[in-house]
Amino acid sequence: MDARQRLPYVRCTMLHAVRVLAVLVLVALGGLWGWAWLGRGEGETLGDSFARRAAQLLGQDAPAPSAGGVQLPQGLVLGGPFSLTDHTGRAVTEADFAGRFLLLYFGFTYCPDVCPTELGVIAAAVDALGEQGERVTPVLITVDPERDTPEALADYVSRFHPRMVGLTGTAQQVAAAARAYRVYYARVQRPDMTQYLMDHSSFIYLVGPDARVRALFRPETSPEAIAQAVRAQLRGA
Ligand code: NI
Repeated sequence: MDARQRLPYVRCTMLHAVRVLAVLVLVALGGLWGWAWLGRGEGETLGDSFARRAAQLLGQDAPAPSAGGVQLPQGLVLGGPFSLTDHTGRAVTEADFAGRFLLLYFGFTYCPDVCPTELGVIAAAVDALGEQGERVTPVLITVDPERDTPEALADYVSRFHPRMVGLTGTAQQVAAAARAYRVYYARVQRPDMTQYLMDHSSFIYLVGPDARVRALFRPETSPEAIAQAVRAQLRGA
């Protein structure tokens, strides 16, 4: 048999093997989804459960549950030291908030829609906590220090919650704080607008008394869901 004759047979066998492999992968994935679905924790999405099962299979420990909100990938530490100026003009660091829980958001006062919505959600979550809410400080760190002076922030944060703290600083200070929380932001100038906008990521962070992020919440998470996650963290503190 010469090579020319053997080739189709080899190809056919390989195709067959590929098909069998594809079916096996599908069956395995289907089984994993089923396992994830059956073993879903309370309040855990199917996607999170799937990721947890897959991690178990690969021999990695499941990431620590974040008690609501987005699961933090294992080994990822968010938060930490910062040096900024609050809306009264006072220099502050994370040490000024030591021992307190924060519901923290990075945004800017000129934001037309997302920031006001999310800050409203934070305020509603703090209020939903009732007396327990007094242990939680709502905080806005601006990503637009050029326009968001302490005075501008003071006026802005007071519209959302009487205890909301606005933080600004030099461009470098703000960049350092944003880096610690993996916040993306960039200045955007639209041709049809005289004022620039800031493009920015939009997560609400629950920061623990140790200045580390305990949970983060995607945009459009309800105040009730956030309050529930905060309550769970307050119980453990
Ligand atoms: Ni915004």
